[in-house]
Amino acid sequence: MSIQYDKIPNNVNLHEDRQLQRALEQWQPNFLKWWREMGPDGFQEDEVYLRTAVSVDPEGWAVYDYVKMPEYRWGIFLVPPKPNRQIAFGDNLGRPVWTEVPGEFRKELRRIIVVQADTEPASVEQQRRLGHTAPSLYDLRNLFQVNVEEGRHLWAMVYLLHKYFGRDGREEAEDLLVRRSAHPDNPRILNSFNKPVRDWVDFFCFTMFTDRDGKYQLAALAESGFDPLARTTQFMLTEEAHHLFVGETGIERIVRRTAELMRQDPNEDVTRLGGIPLDILQKYINEWFSAALDLFGSEDSSNAALYFAAGLKGRFREEEVWEDHRALEGNYVLEVPDASGQMRRVEIPLRRAMNQLLRDAFIADCERALGRWNRVLERAGITERLFLPSPRFNREVGVYAGYRFSPQGQLLSESEWQSRRDEFLPSERDRAYVQSLMTPVYEPGRFAPWIAPPARGINGKPLDFEYVRFHRQS
Ligand SMILES: [Fe+2]
Ligand SMILES: [Fe+2]
Repeated sequence: MSIQYDKIPNNVNLHEDRQLQRALEQWQPNFLKWWREMGPDGFQEDEVYLRTAVSVDPEGWAVYDYVKMPEYRWGIFLVPPKPNRQIAFGDNLGRPVWTEVPGEFRKELRRIIVVQADTEPASVEQQRRLGHTAPSLYDLRNLFQVNVEEGRHLWAMVYLLHKYFGRDGREEAEDLLVRRSAHPDNPRILNSFNKPVRDWVDFFCFTMFTDRDGKYQLAALAESGFDPLARTTQFMLTEEAHHLFVGETGIERIVRRTAELMRQDPNEDVTRLGGIPLDILQKYINEWFSAALDLFGSEDSSNAALYFAAGLKGRFREEEVWEDHRALEGNYVLEVPDASGQMRRVEIPLRRAMNQLLRDAFIADCERALGRWNRVLERAGITERLFLPSPRFNREVGVYAGYRFSPQGQLLSESEWQSRRDEFLPSERDRAYVQSLMTPVYEPGRFAPWIAPPARGINGKPLDFEYVRFHRQS
């Protein structure tokens, strides 16, 4: 099997790196096979107006053109090294960064990279049927852009495994193409990446909340003392910004449309007009926000302390925001239920609370987006508001797992939870209603009735641009 290396955009000297070439010769055909099997269902022969990363130049890193997805040029990019960069936190503060894997942290680093890598193909698998119900060509194109870039993020992580981890790195890279989202025997590593993404409200919540967890994980790894990981994740963040944009503006467009419809109906009942009621949207937010919180890991974590101490994973904007980069003093205070069901204060030593600090940065970012959506309601003269549920609500990981809390953060008994569950999370009826709205709109410039058009098109193109050209037999 021969690969045309000049077709793989990269700045890692691929055409001269024999070892990397040999690893890719094995892996790339399996990746393409995986993409055909598990990538977007039914649209592989269509031409999609996509951007492709071709350099790390902040001005011109992407080119836009029509591409058939299996021919997408997945590339390998690291931002250029900073000369004399030093480890910026933890016990190794001030030492030169590692350009090879430090032997004593090899296992930890491999684990960090594999867990991040696993989320990338998982999300493609979760979203693979959504193309059949896209609310517009603009949205269909954005879905596929997110999908191909998650594919590239997989490449980015696989590059690190191939380049720095030898034989076990190659085995891990193969396994990334073998696990499957929600597979009963061989699922993806993190639970939120085994959840079904059934409709476009799920998709916008996923790109808003789940991809945003990704942003914070990548940002924490962009601080890493393992320089190739820091440089790889920094470049991934430039692509991630678009995924977050898709989610945040997607929900905003639903809110905008719902507000318009509420004003058209004397009882503000949007279901008669084919809109998505705010209370259903709130339940989707509750579900996906709480699932994203779980991705940060436990509030009190010895792994997080180890990663920080070693200099492998920092805090969000470690160098700009924080002053004490050792974090050996101070506690994080949290209210946790005790055995008798009373809330009790616990103090977590700061290094063990690193997951929680990252989660706090994420929550603040989500609050900002909620403010934006609520301003749309306010301007439309609607008094209802959307909100983020309590971080205690619906958790499966961490100190609140195993308890029942309301979205307001009150501890509930199991029977109270069971009787009120459908107030908090989408019920089967809610889901069936949303599903009933999911009819595709493929005519350029038209949008499904449950969502407002975006403010502008992609790359300066008009809203009625043909973002996807279909090549199917009719
Ligand atoms: Fe990603
Ligand atoms: Fe993403």
